[in-house]
Amino acid sequence: MGHAMKKAGKRVPTRLRPGGIEDAVLMLIFEKPSTRTRVSFDLAMRQLGGQTLALNHTDLQVGRGEPISDTAKVLSRYVDAIMIRANKHETLTELAEHASVPVINGLTDRTHPCQIVADIMTFEESIGPIKGRKVAWTGDGNNVAASWIQASARLGFKLTLACPPQLNPERAIIDWARREGGAIELTDDPAEAVAGADCVVTDTWVSMGQQTEATRRKQLLGAYAVDERLMKKAARGAIFMHCLPAYRGHEVAADVIDGPRSVVWDEAENRLHAQKAILAWCLGVD
Ligand code: CP
Ligand code: NVA
Repeated sequence: MGHAMKKAGKRVPTRLRPGGIEDAVLMLIFEKPSTRTRVSFDLAMRQLGGQTLALNHTDLQVGRGEPISDTAKVLSRYVDAIMIRANKHETLTELAEHASVPVINGLTDRTHPCQIVADIMTFEESIGPIKGRKVAWTGDGNNVAASWIQASARLGFKLTLACPPQLNPERAIIDWARREGGAIELTDDPAEAVAGADCVVTDTWVSMGQQTEATRRKQLLGAYAVDERLMKKAARGAIFMHCLPAYRGHEVAADVIDGPRSVVWDEAENRLHAQKAILAWCLGVD
């Protein structure tokens, strides 16, 4: 539906109108900074005809110890959906458990699913259906990697991840994906992962909340950077993706992210269209 939303631009597709997103309110809660997720969810909701209310968690009483469960029950009496960017994944799950309105994961320390919805949309725009294709991840086995792993199981593409063994993705997520039929391969060799891939993906070496580990992470991840030499090992016509924010000269060379194979600006734009699809689905109007 992201593609349909993109085609519709700022106009709400008429078939969505009777469902009643008009006047619905989406609450956005941030425990960490955000540019894309915050702006795209805010605009998506407004362009669908609804309203938003964005707060940092320190503005809420949870910052002073009010239980998440109580907060969830109270907010459910006020708003129609909640998006949260949480430090700990458990905050999200506790909120979802106690809320009676849809709760959307806007990134946690474990996963970043809304990003991958936009990424898959971008892959499909650039290359075509992702089923049966190969995606390579190189770098930190982090929250974004985890959501790629989950998507691979659901959408039937091959995913090969090259990570330093100390920073491999969470075992439980890989095991779940493999049980669900996902073709997930792990290696510590970026060249092996990227060989023949239709899409090469990476992310920052130091995620939000990991600043104290920055030196160790940069040492471990130095060999996993995406540069032109690595991109040459990918399939002809392969694209480069990065959820952003990016750190040129660290996880990706400037000539790759700013070069012809990079689709990062489409990827960022598609956050907006994908969020509309997610909101329409959550609010039951698709
Ligand atoms: N990619 C992404 O989620 O960006 P923000 O941290 O700016 O929201
Ligand atoms: N892995 C990064 C993603 C930022 C959108 C982080 O968690 O900081």
